[in-house]
This record gives sequence, structure tokens and C-alpha cells, in this order.
Amino acid sequence: MKIAISGKGGVGKTTLAACLSKYYAQKSFKVIAVDADPDANLASALGLEYEKAKKIIPLIEMKEFIEERTGAKSGQYGSYFKLNPKVDDIPQKYGIEIDGVRLLVAGTIKAGGSGCYCPENVLLKRLFKHLVVDRDEIIILDMEAGIEHLGRGTCENMDILIVVIEPGLRSIQTAYTVKKMSSDLGVKSVFIVINKIKSESEKQILLENLEEFEVLGELPYSDKVRESDLKNYSPCVSDIKFKEAVENIANRINKFIRG
Ligand SMILES: Nc1ncnc2c1ncn2[C@@H]1O[C@H](COP(=O)(O)OP(=O)(O)OP(=O)(O)O)[C@@H](O)[C@H]1O
Ligand SMILES: [Mg+2]
Repeated sequence: MKIAISGKGGVGKTTLAACLSKYYAQKSFKVIAVDADPDANLASALGLEYEKAKKIIPLIEMKEFIEERTGAKSGQYGSYFKLNPKVDDIPQKYGIEIDGVRLLVAGTIKAGGSGCYCPENVLLKRLFKHLVVDRDEIIILDMEAGIEHLGRGTCENMDILIVVIEPGLRSIQTAYTVKKMSSDLGVKSVFIVINKIKSESEKQILLENLEEFEVLGELPYSDKVRESDLKNYSPCVSDIKFKEAVENIANRINKFIRG
């Protein structure tokens, strides 16, 4: 099962990625959670202590590792480097085990201009493709809003892309942009998760603006989840109602994928 999570900044992508990862790990599935956000903080959301999380270096910034795998220094454009670097041992070697979830802090492919074609981008792109196409584990990708750098092969093999929205029309606008991008890239299924819901009327306004989408589920606003970020504990264990809502979403994902 390969799940990517996208959406506007701050809507709750990392919170959902962490909670789904933990849910599947607790059900004894093997899970690789991939932090593909430039501002990586999935480790904390999975419950790693702040001091340890702070020290993690994303793969895309590991200069020696990039050189070892591609044969070229990171940031070198136009020079010769391997287009087919070895990536299949990366989850085992560079992943961090947090409470049954293997976390891979990858970082983000640099977009635009010459940044598109440099050793670290090629390596990361290949890693994402390997994770989505070749692996048997459950893969959960915590992304930023843009998915264009993933490439067609990866997108076509993803089971679902979840776009998280919060009460606010701007996050819906982002969802439309992501949806358009997804169809251009061949993503099979795009779903919405509504997060931070405080009232039924709020939810109704959002639903009226989401007619073109399939809504996978909703997550309530939770003071405990908010507090978990402030006090650095995992949001997934903080609030029973929130936890149940995550389970409902996971059940709908399972149903959809199994058909
Ligand atoms: N249901 C919720 N109730 C209350 N607070 C929430 C909820 N979901 C997320 N938050 C809070 O909102 C903030 C943003 O959440 P999160 O980091 O998961 O979003 P994100 O989309 O990954 O952000 P970014 O774009 O910066 O990566 C955090 O402080 C988080 O604790
Ligand atoms: Mg995030």
C-alpha cells in the first residue's frame, strides 16, 4: 500500500502521516514513513525526542552519501554521474526505527532550473520510485503541496494521494491545484481529508466547496493534538476521538485499496 499525503502548509499533513504510520505499525504491518518535506518534522510527530529529532540530517543534505551513490558531488551540474544509483538498501541503512515505524528523512527534490538535474535530485527521485514501485512495506509519504517532482512512474504506482484541508478556502484552492497536477502525472486516486473541524456548520461549508472531490474522512480539531506539538509528544496517542477518526480513515483506505 503506497500513500502520499499533500496539501497546503500547516493543514496537518505530518500529523496525519504520523498517525496513519503508527496505526498500521500497531496492526503489525511493516511501515516506512518518508519525510519528503523541506521542513522535516515527521520524526517528532512519530514521538522521537526533540533533541534526537533535531539532529537528523535529511538524505538530500548528506554530501558524502550522495557522492558515494552517484559518483558526483552534490550540487554539481552537468558533470557525469550515475543515473541508476543503488537505493534499495537505504531504508535499512538510513532509516530510524520509531515505535515500530521505520522513518526515512529524505528531504525534498530541488525544483526549477539547473536544480532539477543534479546528483541529489536523481538519487532522491530514484529512491521515491523504488519505495513506491518495488517495496512490499506500507509506504507513507509526507509531502509538501507540490508533487510534480515525483515523476510519472512514481505517481502512477501510488495507490492514493490524500490532500489534507483545514477550515479555510485557501486550503481548498491548493487541493484543486494538487488535483490538476495529479491527473497530469497519472495519479490514480485523489482523496480529501478534512482536518481541524470544530463544528458541523464549518464542515458543511467545506463540503459545499468540495463537490469535485471524494472525501475520505475528517479529523476533529483537538487541543491535545495542538498541545502535542508544543510539548513534543506524538499527536497520535493524545486524544481518543482523534485516534478513532484516524482509524476510520485507515479503514476507508483499506476498503478502497482492497476493493
Ligand atoms: N486536528 C488538529 N487539531 C488541532 N491542531 C492540529 C490538528 N492537526 C494539526 N494540528 C496542528 O497544526 C499544526 C500543523 O500541523 P502539521 O505539522 O501536521 O501540518 P503540516 O501540513 O505537516 O505542516 P507543514 O506544511 O509545515 O509541513 C501543528 O501545530 C499541529 O499540532
Ligand atoms: Mg509537515
